Amino acid sequence: MTITLITGANKGLGYEAARRLKAEGHSIYLGARDKGRGTAAAESLGVRFVQLDVTDDDSVAAAADDIRRRDGRLDVLINNAGITGGRSKPEDVTADTIRAVYETNVFGVVRVTHAMLPLLRASENPVIVNVASGLGSLGIVTDPKRGESTYASLSYASSKSALVMLTIQYAKAFPEFRVNVVDPGYTATDLNGNSGTQNVTEGTDAMVRMATIAKDGPTGRFEDRGGVIPW
Ligand SMILES: NC(=O)c1ccc[n+]([C@@H]2O[C@H](COP(=O)([O-])OP(=O)(O)OC[C@H]3O[C@@H](n4cnc5c(N)ncnc54)[C@H](OP(=O)(O)O)[C@@H]3O)[C@@H](O)[C@H]2O)c1
Repeated sequence: MTITLITGANKGLGYEAARRLKAEGHSIYLGARDKGRGTAAAESLGVRFVQLDVTDDDSVAAAADDIRRRDGRLDVLINNAGITGGRSKPEDVTADTIRAVYETNVFGVVRVTHAMLPLLRASENPVIVNVASGLGSLGIVTDPKRGESTYASLSYASSKSALVMLTIQYAKAFPEFRVNVVDPGYTATDLNGNSGTQNVTEGTDAMVRMATIAKDGPTGRFEDRGGVIPW
């Protein structure tokens, strides 16, 4: 059975990915930073909860230990947890504002990936799916036809660009893994006050496709639900 960990899965896209991948036969670890919210979400899906705050070294190390004890390996890691950091005016954005967003969206992914590497290496087909955004695509944010080009998002957009680059570098570093990055598309969740135009099932199409990728499938790709998108 495929053992899958999803970070930030107590709600939104992570929760829907957990629901869909469980239906595909995966054994899910539903990661959440809050024990109460995480346990309730995991129980509602009939999957296992693991406490995991991506900004906290001890929490991430304990989650890795927990998975090692219970299963001894991890097949699929979905780095989904993310924050926007709010919408500050660009002139009000400071290094501290950006650092807080990077702590979750960038350093959090490195922290979790680093801790889970030994477990992923124990898998026959290790897969990492990083959840970025169209706002992290240089091609999309400079395309006047795209909504993402119409406003400046210093912290969030640059954090997701960093995540796209991390994905490429991890894919090069670990050719025996499938390491890909996805843009869910603009999806109604708490992240955007439920203003998104897609539902969570549409928003998890690319995540689910990349999480169920074959051993000889692509690696180092940036895709949305329609396929490859610009860097
Ligand atoms: N929705 C969209 O339109 C859209 C578009 C492009 C990309 N994305 C990306 O998709 C991912 C999921 O977003 P969403 O729309 O599902 O947002 P969401 O509903 O706000 O869910 C975000 C999840 O991340 C968790 N989280 C935040 N900080 C965390 C931390 N330090 N440790 C562990 N978990 C943490 C939240 O937990 P709490 O409940 O404890 O806060 C929550 O479970 C994010 O990476 C986001 O950037 C979303």
